[in-house]
Amino acid sequence: MTEFASSAPRRLLVTSALPYANGALHLGHIIEAVQTDIWCRFQRLRGHDCLYVCAEDCHGTPIMIRARQDGTTPEQLIADASASHQRDYAGFNIAFDHFHATHSEENRRYCESIYATLRKRGAIDRRSVRQAYDEQAGMFLPDRFVRGTCPRCGAADQYGDSCEVCGATYSPAELKDAISTISGTRPVLRDSDHLFFRLGLFDKDLREWLASVGLQPAVRAKLDEWFEAGLQDWDISRDAPYFGFEIPDAPGKYFYVWFDAPIGYISSFAALAARRGLNVDDYWKAGASTELHHFIGKDISYFHTLFWPAVLQGAGYRRPTDVHVHGFLTVDGQKMSKSRGTFITAQRYLELLPADPLRYYFAAKLGNGLDDIDLNLEDFTARVNSDIVGKLVNIASRCAPFIAKGGGHLSAALPDEALYAQFTARSEDIAALWNSRDYAGAVREIMLLADRANQYVDQNKPWVLAKDPARLDEARAVATQGINLFRVLMTWLAPVLPDIAAKAAQWLGDDALSTWNGIATPLLNRALAAYPQLAARLDPAVVKQLVATPPASAPALPSSSQQSTPSQAKPVINIDEFAKLDLRAAKVLAASRVEGSDKLLQLTLDLGSEQRNVFSGIAANYAPEQLVGRYVVMIANLAPRKMRFGVSEGMVLCAGGPKEDGSEGVFLLSADAGVAPGMKIT
Ligand code: 2FM
Ligand code: ZN
Repeated sequence: MTEFASSAPRRLLVTSALPYANGALHLGHIIEAVQTDIWCRFQRLRGHDCLYVCAEDCHGTPIMIRARQDGTTPEQLIADASASHQRDYAGFNIAFDHFHATHSEENRRYCESIYATLRKRGAIDRRSVRQAYDEQAGMFLPDRFVRGTCPRCGAADQYGDSCEVCGATYSPAELKDAISTISGTRPVLRDSDHLFFRLGLFDKDLREWLASVGLQPAVRAKLDEWFEAGLQDWDISRDAPYFGFEIPDAPGKYFYVWFDAPIGYISSFAALAARRGLNVDDYWKAGASTELHHFIGKDISYFHTLFWPAVLQGAGYRRPTDVHVHGFLTVDGQKMSKSRGTFITAQRYLELLPADPLRYYFAAKLGNGLDDIDLNLEDFTARVNSDIVGKLVNIASRCAPFIAKGGGHLSAALPDEALYAQFTARSEDIAALWNSRDYAGAVREIMLLADRANQYVDQNKPWVLAKDPARLDEARAVATQGINLFRVLMTWLAPVLPDIAAKAAQWLGDDALSTWNGIATPLLNRALAAYPQLAARLDPAVVKQLVATPPASAPALPSSSQQSTPSQAKPVINIDEFAKLDLRAAKVLAASRVEGSDKLLQLTLDLGSEQRNVFSGIAANYAPEQLVGRYVVMIANLAPRKMRFGVSEGMVLCAGGPKEDGSEGVFLLSADAGVAPGMKIT
């Protein structure tokens, strides 16, 4: 025990990946935040000075486009996302010291100064790049905004950079029948100057950094592959229109979101430092003695283990002490999917269940490798009910009555000091497991000891002793022993179960769980508060509600979203039935909001030979001014329908259903480039 007290205090700065500002948090975000938060809480409990910062990742094309689609500004979108993200993180008890945003003055300042230093040191190059360009939208297209037929296997509707069917990677120029997902038109190729970070200059420095850090073997193996392939220069600029920071000496060019996002770690810390009177250089300048730890998912290790340390080095900053990489979250063995209803948002979870059970389950499954982690809902229910309620809390709840009966005070001595010592002797090993992020290992050890504590109570039967008034003190002593064993286990689990630990501390006394070393001295002689219910069993019926059944009214036409598939619920029709639909391209001549309805827009559509008045339920997703001049697909032979607001003469086709972030989306289907009003759609 004394070993802990003498371990020198460390100063750590810890981050988890910055969530994008264009979607709700889902349980994939939460597992990472929980993994990081447990680690930070553990370090603080051990007496170390551990700061945890995060921020909203605000920039990039998807956020710009999403704001346009929602008829709002990127700034508003960011403010809304940040509020919802912070609410959800707080709901899971993620104890950030600061949560900032990359669209902030601090971040602009750090981006500009880091870029200026890199440039001065010859680490920035300028050269021309040929890229897909959408002439109608007037913008260069990120690969993900181009779709078409895979040049290798011929699969239709693949992204501009890779095929999900055969796994081929290619450039958008190689894609057959390429289409811009922004305007629906065919992109052209256009040249533009870009700025490159010369990653290759840092080959030697990176290898030396790798020798000094503790990366996981699988991450190292990946790095070896990248080194072998040769380090490629990294394009850090994007052309206007782009939502980001304009590059000071390159008007019309913006820092690529992946350049400014990790710099957000520094700016979030700088905002915290200003609040707390800390010195940024102590944490960030080359040679700083503090530790810097990043927690990330395996999809973004390239950015964090190559670009980021090289950028930091090039700009005179310190490099990370370690980068901790985790696998993906699956639900019931499969990738989270909206169509299967397994895409669980943080908000949905919190509407149904408390945070601690999921924190516990994640801890019980997280090792320090890159394996995917499965949230199996039946196993989740069984595990939480058995471990937290049936084992851990059970020790406290079965002992508490005998303290109350004995006058409300713990006994003056432990009846089995040797057993208590057996428990505390495990403390250093358990600390080592938490510290090395083998959470599953720590939970396993702790639960074995919880079994042992329950055995002790079973064997000593305080309920039998308490029947004899002369043996009430013995019953109280057994209960005191049980409660002290519970307190040891609860201390070790406090980083995982903050709500349960807080309730336990109300019962046992504020100081009872406040330090890792507190267990060196058992709780004796003290008065306990009334025993609170520490945790309740999970109801399997409620857990089931986490995975909603896919909506029966899923879109009749497949949406472009990867996650949704067409409904299987509708009957098969034959070609003749399909031929009854008169599908036409129509041009939106006018669009306006409908008074008395926040769902509907009134559209005047040009069908070539005639104009139609159509009411369409898309007001939540499109502003009227976004629509005028746009081509849409409509059913022209739908019987006119009298509505409260007038007669609707047809229907505009949309894709609808849950979006990647779990919210409901409605997207107009665009008629392809070159159509004229009234053209038949076949
Ligand atoms: O992959 C993502 O979700 C990014 N928003 C993570 C950024 S982490 C850091 F580099 F800022
Ligand atoms: Zn393919």
